[in-house]
Amino acid sequence: MNFLSNKKIVLGITGSIAAYKSAILIRLLIKSGCEVKVIMTEAAKAFITPLTISTLSKNPIHSHLFENGNWDSHVELGLWADAFIIAPTTATTISKMANGLADNLLLATYLSAKCPVFFAPAMDLDMWEHPSTKRNIDILSSYGNYIIEVNHGELASGLIGDGRMAEPDEIISILNDFFSKKKDLIGKRFLVTAGPTYEDLDPVRYIGNNSSGKMGVAIAEEASSRGAEVILVLGPGIMQPSSNISKLIKVRSAEDMFMACKSEFEKCDVAIMAAAVADYTPLEKSNIKIKKKDGDLQIPLKRTTDIAAFLGKEKRFNQILVGFALETNNGIENASSKLERKNLDFIVLNTLGDEGVGFKHDTNKVQFIMKNGLSKQFELKSKKKVANDIINQVIAMF
Ligand code: CTP
Repeated sequence: MNFLSNKKIVLGITGSIAAYKSAILIRLLIKSGCEVKVIMTEAAKAFITPLTISTLSKNPIHSHLFENGNWDSHVELGLWADAFIIAPTTATTISKMANGLADNLLLATYLSAKCPVFFAPAMDLDMWEHPSTKRNIDILSSYGNYIIEVNHGELASGLIGDGRMAEPDEIISILNDFFSKKKDLIGKRFLVTAGPTYEDLDPVRYIGNNSSGKMGVAIAEEASSRGAEVILVLGPGIMQPSSNISKLIKVRSAEDMFMACKSEFEKCDVAIMAAAVADYTPLEKSNIKIKKKDGDLQIPLKRTTDIAAFLGKEKRFNQILVGFALETNNGIENASSKLERKNLDFIVLNTLGDEGVGFKHDTNKVQFIMKNGLSKQFELKSKKKVANDIINQVIAMF
């Protein structure tokens, strides 16, 4: 179904070879019934002509903050739009957006836009892999902007890798999904745990794990984009969840995470436990740095509270509790036993060793195991799409 009809779109084009795809994107937007206004940076004009763009978009292009002594209002463009799409977005523009630099009309419009902002990066693979690009993209996600993921393939440099701008039809489908999204979680409150926990040994050392928090944050963002009030209890790490999350509680240890969950759970309709919680913590934490001595060292550990199991005992009949199981072997058997032991409503099993599955990946391949023994197997997909599947399953259980 077409949800783009009558939508007002501001399209930003920046200076990348992928700007040729913007022409096709405009055609598809117009064909879907959108009204399109385009902002081009000076660099974009080196890749595609303003005449092509204005003809296709059926509107004059916008380019400068001042034109013939008149002010071109970036505020008005931002207010007019139902969505602002920047495609292609160069590494430079991404960096300026992350840092609030408004040295052209496109960036000034970005800073003042009240509508959802989508950006489709396009760059060479090394630029794409650079930590500064990754950091800037995380910052934009934390502002609530939507990244349109790059594709893998041949790049303008001739190299093969990640960095190709998404195809225009993919962008249309993402926008269509966005506008079709039902706000089916309005009035529901979710508790989500994400990330690792760090158990301190002394002021400089801790016992941790490899969890990035990506899966849990994707779930929190998905629930929140569908209208839920979301309380995200997030372990340490670099994840910066979007600003749409109602309440973000940053924690460090399993005990901190337990205390946060214990006080929030009662008010929630759903709890999704995606965190990789430490099962053991040092029996004692030293206040000063532990010095090395001759011979080996043994550190006594004590059990942490099993948060999911605790919530499973507290759970009211109308609350839904979802757990995760990351297994290396006997997946179904281990996950089913956790489901029962922790009184979960369903458990999301992922098997370490499957390609694309694991803490640092943006993809995941999962299987849901239900209380009645039934299971659903999904193919490898982005963590965002897995989050969507999990939320749909929760909704089916309401
Ligand atoms: N979990 C939790 N609190 C803990 C340990 C685990 O809430 N102290 C939750 C996890 O967030 C996950 C589920 O329980 O949703 C299963 O976690 P996992 O580490 O796979 O299971 P464990 O019970 O710790 O068993 P094991 O480590 O032996 O596999």
